[in-house]
This record gives sequence, C-alpha cells and structure tokens, in this order.
Amino acid sequence: MDGVKINLKVNGLAISREVDSRLLLSDFIRESLFLTGTHIGCEHGVCGACTIHVNGDPVRSCLMLAVQADGCEVKTVESLIQENGKLNHLQQAFSDNHALQCGFCTPGFLMTVSRLLEDNLNPGEEEIRKCISGNLCRCTGYSNIIKAVKQAAQTVSN
Ligand code: FES
Ligand code: FES
Repeated sequence: MDGVKINLKVNGLAISREVDSRLLLSDFIRESLFLTGTHIGCEHGVCGACTIHVNGDPVRSCLMLAVQADGCEVKTVESLIQENGKLNHLQQAFSDNHALQCGFCTPGFLMTVSRLLEDNLNPGEEEIRKCISGNLCRCTGYSNIIKAVKQAAQTVSN
C-alpha cells in the first residue's frame, strides 16, 4: 500500500492513521472509522448524501481524499446527537415534520442545514431552498424538509 500518515480530528477525537493516498474521505470515514452515518450515493459530488463538515464548512466527502483532510477538523452526522443520547433540535425537527422516508439522504441534509443554522437562525424559504439545492431526496419531497428547517431555527431562537 502507498501509505501516508494523516492526523485529524473527527467529531472532537484526535485520529492518526496510515491511509492509501487514493482513499476517498467518505470511504475512510465509513470503512476505517466505522462512522456509517455518512452515506454514499453517487460518489460523483451530485447527490449530497456524503456531506460532512471540514473545518466548519459543508463538504462532499466523496470528492475529497482522506490525505487532504490531514490536519483538519472533521464533523460527521454522528456529532449532532446530544450528549444525553437524544436527537438534537434539527434531527428532532426532521422527525416531527416527517422530513424523511427511507432516510438515505438525511445525513447529508442535516449536515448541510446545520451549517446554515449556525449563521442564520431566521432563514427565509428561498434561503433554505438555495441551501439544500445540492442535496437530492428521491422519496420525501422537499416541502417537509423545509418545514423541519424552519422549526429547528425557531426552536433555537426561542
Ligand atoms: S455520494 Fe457524495 S455527492 Fe453523492
Ligand atoms: S428520504 Fe429517501 S432519499 Fe430522501
């Protein structure tokens, strides 16, 4: 194996591994770290299912190599759960508003939207639609997802 040592933080934990220089970050997260909440759909940067945060910004982990995450702070959907094991406000809002059916796309939506809500606790519908325009859902439709985002924003601002 053409091994390269990488050091990064994932969900607050320091990780040090030797990886193949061609290994995708999405595969590293799922297969080396067993964080299988990050889903892989298209593997071409189209569907958004693999969205994670790298240094605070949403990134498609299928378009990044694990070696490019060396020195970075990575957050996956597993980071959203509260310390007491309960869903956070955004996850709860998705559940309350039936914003998922099969759930395959959901981790990507949650990571995309959670970044939006860090900056803006009162996003308008157009802003929400623009934010999620790179995330594809094949079964729920988008209306309930938008409702969920609005509820989550309201919960945090109250
Ligand atoms: S799996 Fe990464 S964008 Fe679809
Ligand atoms: S809930 Fe099935 S693809 Fe979105």
